[in-house]
Amino acid sequence: MAIFLDTGKIEEIEKYMKMGIIRGVTTNPTILLRSGVTGGKEAIKKASIDIANLIKPYPLSVEITTNDLLEMMDQAREFSTWADNINVKITIHGPNGELDNLGVVHALETKHDIRVNVTAMMSAQQGFLAAMAGATFVSIFAGRVNNMGYNACIEIKKLRKVLDDFDLKAKIIIGSTREVLNIIEWLGAGAHIVTVVPKFLEAMIVHPYSKETVQQFLMDAKKAEEMLGK
Ligand code: E4P
Repeated sequence: MAIFLDTGKIEEIEKYMKMGIIRGVTTNPTILLRSGVTGGKEAIKKASIDIANLIKPYPLSVEITTNDLLEMMDQAREFSTWADNINVKITIHGPNGELDNLGVVHALETKHDIRVNVTAMMSAQQGFLAAMAGATFVSIFAGRVNNMGYNACIEIKKLRKVLDDFDLKAKIIIGSTREVLNIIEWLGAGAHIVTVVPKFLEAMIVHPYSKETVQQFLMDAKKAEEMLGK
């Protein structure tokens, strides 16, 4: 799995799909808004279907946009009909710490055959309980964890260990990238997947010394051709 793209921008997704270096896409309402997806549910539906078709069979996460339990179930059921490879993102709890969301996650995964990505988590203990509830993906926002002064790598390592020890199926997605080095660092700490903003993927590929080397190779090849031609 390894790399997902954290964006709603179709041209960016197309670009990195062609290179064969991404294995899924994650979105949330903030990302879609930043990617120019405005116009309510219809716009989210269109963007999600376009992305899901483009990346098939790789997964796309689409976030539930309500905190009302019945509406959450309705949205989850609706979003999952848009494409086979769509999973729904549900936050670990409500805006004031309400505990009902894990019940929704459990019902969707076990009774409705809908894949869930439990999101907005900051710790291994949250991820562990989301995995116990049956989530397919458990998402920790490691950049936000680091911003609070904690070391996200410790949480990732702890989470991976309990998932493996208890043979839980959930895959760990680490999001909220802040620096290019986060990607390899978080995969090394035990993440199954890091979801990366497009600008960091480009920065992972391009190195100034590689540039200089390629320029030198091309110049020398040209010189060699000229010498042969003489
Ligand atoms: C991941 O799934 C989230 O969408 C995202 O990475 C959150 O990142 P942020 O902290 O930069 O908003």
